[in-house]
Amino acid sequence: MYRQLPSNTFFKPLIQITTMSNLRLLVVGGAGYIGSHMVKQLALAGCNVTTLDSLVNGHRDAVLHGDFVHADLADKDSLTQLFKHQQFDAVLHFASFIQVGESVQKPALYYENNVTNTLNLLNAMNNAGVRRFIFSSTAATFGEPQYTPIDEQHPQSPINPYGRSKLMIEQILNDYDNAYGLKSVCLRYFNAAGADPDGQLGERHNPETHLIPLVLQAASGRKPFISVFGRDYDTPDGTCIRDYIHISDLCEAHWLSLQSLLKGANSQQYNLGNGHGFSVQEVIDSARRVTGRHIEVVDAPRREGDPARLVADSKSARLNLGWSPRFSDLDVMVKHAWNWEQNQHGANMP
Ligand code: UFG
Repeated sequence: MYRQLPSNTFFKPLIQITTMSNLRLLVVGGAGYIGSHMVKQLALAGCNVTTLDSLVNGHRDAVLHGDFVHADLADKDSLTQLFKHQQFDAVLHFASFIQVGESVQKPALYYENNVTNTLNLLNAMNNAGVRRFIFSSTAATFGEPQYTPIDEQHPQSPINPYGRSKLMIEQILNDYDNAYGLKSVCLRYFNAAGADPDGQLGERHNPETHLIPLVLQAASGRKPFISVFGRDYDTPDGTCIRDYIHISDLCEAHWLSLQSLLKGANSQQYNLGNGHGFSVQEVIDSARRVTGRHIEVVDAPRREGDPARLVADSKSARLNLGWSPRFSDLDVMVKHAWNWEQNQHGANMP
């Protein structure tokens, strides 16, 4: 299912693990949107997957494969016990609070959950000698863009506690590599979008704040309209531009990152997007095309903290990991998300 790494990459020869199929992996936050898709892909690739999730935001029924541990990262004893009784080749960490606005209102919650709890995880791993880590970081670590597309050299200057909490972990990971040899890959997602192409999994945030699922709720009749937050930006149609990246392509980037760490690569950071932005209006137009439904639009004021344009330069991931997004067509992302919306709420459809 997955491509093999090209033979001409810079990675050192395989040192410890000769097959990917029997990998023992801990997926933290595996009951969430991105984590649940990852658990499925890893299990289908033959890995032994254990999901750890507090279920504060995740859904138990989204974990389709492997073992499940119901625990909170605040609970250090549970972490110690888990790492004592199970061996892991690597940890993938998806669990975090992700709402920018809420992070401004409740920074304590964000630093506690995204920083302190991640430290608990890193320390438990380190004590158990597990030294490969894949971290869900974000475009929000860059703050207001100084130029686009945004590459890895762009200064990181987050403008809200959410972005700062993720950047703090990136910095901690740098220190843990230097001091303890913990190797990590930080993947800075731009706008995760779409759903499992098989229709089994999708986005289920509560409350939902993301554009694509909200537009589709307006298409299905679950919401009366979609608000457009600002039409006076310095963009061709005046609405904000984002780089939407399909959830399956994000999962593939994690898989390739894992392979790179297993082959002895150094710690890395990658920006993940398609390198092409779509405006809010273009997303609404796509949803109208894909669903064939009327979508009521209401113009609203700008949402605080929204940069006009966020587009990734992902050349580095393409070059070093051999990553190549397969679902870069916006209509395909919207189609998969629409399938999910229909699977979940078909009964409510007009
Ligand atoms: N938008 C609307 N109406 C809505 C919802 C969103 O117009 O009802 C607009 C937003 O203003 C923004 C665009 O649609 O311009 C995309 O908004 P999302 O909320 O879907 O995504 P964001 O770009 O705000 O957020 C994403 C991630 C965050 C991350 C952030 C980094 O989802 O986790 O990028 O900047 F922090």
